[in-house]
Order: sequence, then C-alpha cells, then structure tokens
Amino acid sequence: MKAEKFTLVRHFDGFPKSTDFKLESEELPGLKPNELLCQAEFLSVDPYMRPYTRRMNPPITMIGSQVAKVVDSKNAKFPTGSYVVGSFGWRTLTVTKIGDVATPGDAELLPDLGGLAPSYALGACGMPGITAYFGFLELCQPKPKETVVVTGAAGAVGSLVGQIAKIKGCRVIGFAGTDAKCSWLKTLGFDVAINYKTCADIDAALKAAAPDGVDCYFDNVGGMLSHRVRQQMNLFGRISACGAISSYNDKTGQESQVPVPEGPIVFKQLKIEGFIVSRWWNRRAEAVQQMAAWIRDGKIKVQETVTDGFQKMPQAFMGMLKGQNTGKAIIKV
Ligand SMILES: NC(=O)c1ccc[n+]([C@@H]2O[C@H](COP(=O)([O-])OP(=O)(O)OC[C@H]3O[C@@H](n4cnc5c(N)ncnc54)[C@H](OP(=O)(O)O)[C@@H]3O)[C@@H](O)[C@H]2O)c1
Repeated sequence: MKAEKFTLVRHFDGFPKSTDFKLESEELPGLKPNELLCQAEFLSVDPYMRPYTRRMNPPITMIGSQVAKVVDSKNAKFPTGSYVVGSFGWRTLTVTKIGDVATPGDAELLPDLGGLAPSYALGACGMPGITAYFGFLELCQPKPKETVVVTGAAGAVGSLVGQIAKIKGCRVIGFAGTDAKCSWLKTLGFDVAINYKTCADIDAALKAAAPDGVDCYFDNVGGMLSHRVRQQMNLFGRISACGAISSYNDKTGQESQVPVPEGPIVFKQLKIEGFIVSRWWNRRAEAVQQMAAWIRDGKIKVQETVTDGFQKMPQAFMGMLKGQNTGKAIIKV
C-alpha cells in the first residue's frame, strides 16, 4: 500500500514557492495491534503552517490536519468506515494509533456535528472555530452594543468572530482584502466592511465606521493595519492578538517593524493578550457543539473555498496566504 505525501524540502524564505515542496510516494507498513489505516478525504491549509515549520528541520512531511476515513482497522473503537480528524500532515494514507500522540487534536474521532459536512471539522467546527469562539469571547469579553473590529475578517477565523460578535449584540466592522469579500461580510451581518487594500484613508474610514471608538479588536493580521486600529481603541479596550499573517512571509532577517502605540496602551488602559488555541483544548467540545448549533440554527453562515485534488495542496496553501480563499480553505482529495 502506497501513500502520497508532500515533503517540505527546505525552510520557507519569504513567500512559499512550489519548489519548497516535493510530492513523494511512501510504502506503508502492515497494521499492528490497535493501529488504523486512514484515508484522507479533506485536508486543511492554515496560516500557522508558515511560521510553525520554522521550528522544524526539513526535510519533513508537511504538517497539517485532515478528515480521514478509517479504511482498515485493528482497533475495535475505530472500526473500518468510521471517520477521524488527525494531524497526519499532507498525506493521502496514514497508519496511526489513536491516542498515542502528544499534542492536542493529533487524532480523534470526528465529532458528531448533527448532519453538518465532515469538512466543517477542519473549519467552523474545528480548530479555527474553537479559536474564534474562545479567542474572542474569553479575551475580548464583548458586551452588547460594543464596537468590535475584526481583521482578516473574511477568513476562516475572522468570519466566525464577526458573526459571534453579532450574536452577542455588538456592532461589527471587518477589514478584508477584496470588494467581493467585503460584500460577503455584509451578507453575514457585518455592519461595515472595509477593503484594507484599496481604502485610501484607513483612519478616516474607521472613524466613520466607529464614531464612538473601538471596544474590542480581534487581531488576525498584526502590522500597520493593527497599528491603525489600536489608535482608535476606547478606554479599557480589549485586544485579542490571534495572528500576525501580515508578517508571516517576511524574509528571514528582514522582519517588518511596527510602532508600539504606547500612548493608547497607557492612557486608554488597554488590555492586549495573545493566545494559542491549545489553551482551551480541554474545553473544545463546548465550542464545537455551540458552533454546530449556531450553524444548524442559521445564526452562523459558513463558506469554504474548496480546491479539488491532493496534488494541488501547495497551490491551495500559497493561494490562502495570498488571500484567494473566502472562509475556510479546504482541499478535497
Ligand atoms: N492563535 C491561534 O491559536 C490561532 C489559531 C488559528 C488561526 N490563527 C491566526 O488567525 C489568522 C487567520 O487564520 P485563518 O485560518 O482564519 O486564515 P484565513 O483568514 O482563512 O486566511 C488567511 C487570510 O489572511 C489574509 N492576509 C494575507 N496576507 C495578509 C496581509 N499582509 N495583511 C492582512 N491580511 C492578510 C488573506 O485575506 P485578505 O484577502 O483579507 O487579505 C487571507 O485570506 C492567522 O493570522 C492565523 O495565524 C491563530
């Protein structure tokens, strides 16, 4: 039995290139007791893959999660035909032993999503959804009528954060990179959506959108856009520092520098807190079940940008980093 897999052959330097990856074939061993053979059906490409691989030593199998079907099993708890979510990397077939892995979410049974698409376990009902739910609600502590700003608003995490904020009764302003994304955000209920790439005056646009200032900022991007948002925070504003995608593709040694807004931090008494979603991994079922219920009730809308074909994983990954996805970027094998 042969698996196809993508090997990352060198560290990324600057924006990823297709030559950073190599498609390889791997002969799989037979199953030992308790092991499963899992066949990927949906794979995820996520921004963290760019900075996280920095800490690894290529050549490595490219990292990532997938929804896979158990096609052979020597483990009675995971019979042939069941589905798992596993951090198996960019691979079509994987031999694994459920529960023998150390980091959160490495491999577990697909949660019961009450009829929602299994691929949602990689998005709204998976890691990005858990990130949006806890990263926003726990750190921003939004109150009804408060003004919330979300950057990366049309992506997997941001689109959910904005909709959760609307459920909580907030006024929501989103920043995204195309007019089409901004139009989509309005259909999700965002009060204002601003194209940060074409807006000539971000300060004036934000002032017009949030005349009473910003109470909560869910920061997916970092960089100068976040610097501008932080200038308009209100007294006791809360900033959830979720991601910094604007700098992920900087060339090594040429990382961008952004001013620290010391005035607003001190005089507005801001709270800025970074997080990694694994902080709440032991509570993930709460987020997954709530997200699934909101989706089934029509309170949260989900969009996926689906790329067909395992061999297109690098293109899907690079496309996501360039902003070609609306909602969650998914690969269907
Ligand atoms: N802390 C955690 O535990 C955690 C967990 C999950 C995700 N995250 C972070 O959350 C952020 C969003 O992740 P996601 O999975 O939802 O990805 P995503 O938003 O679905 O996809 C990435 C998006 O980033 C935007 N982007 C790319 N370059 C940018 C730039 N220079 N400035 C501003 N926006 C840029 C693009 O949209 P545009 O067209 O709008 O530019 C692109 O579609 C990332 O920073 C990620 O690292 C953190």
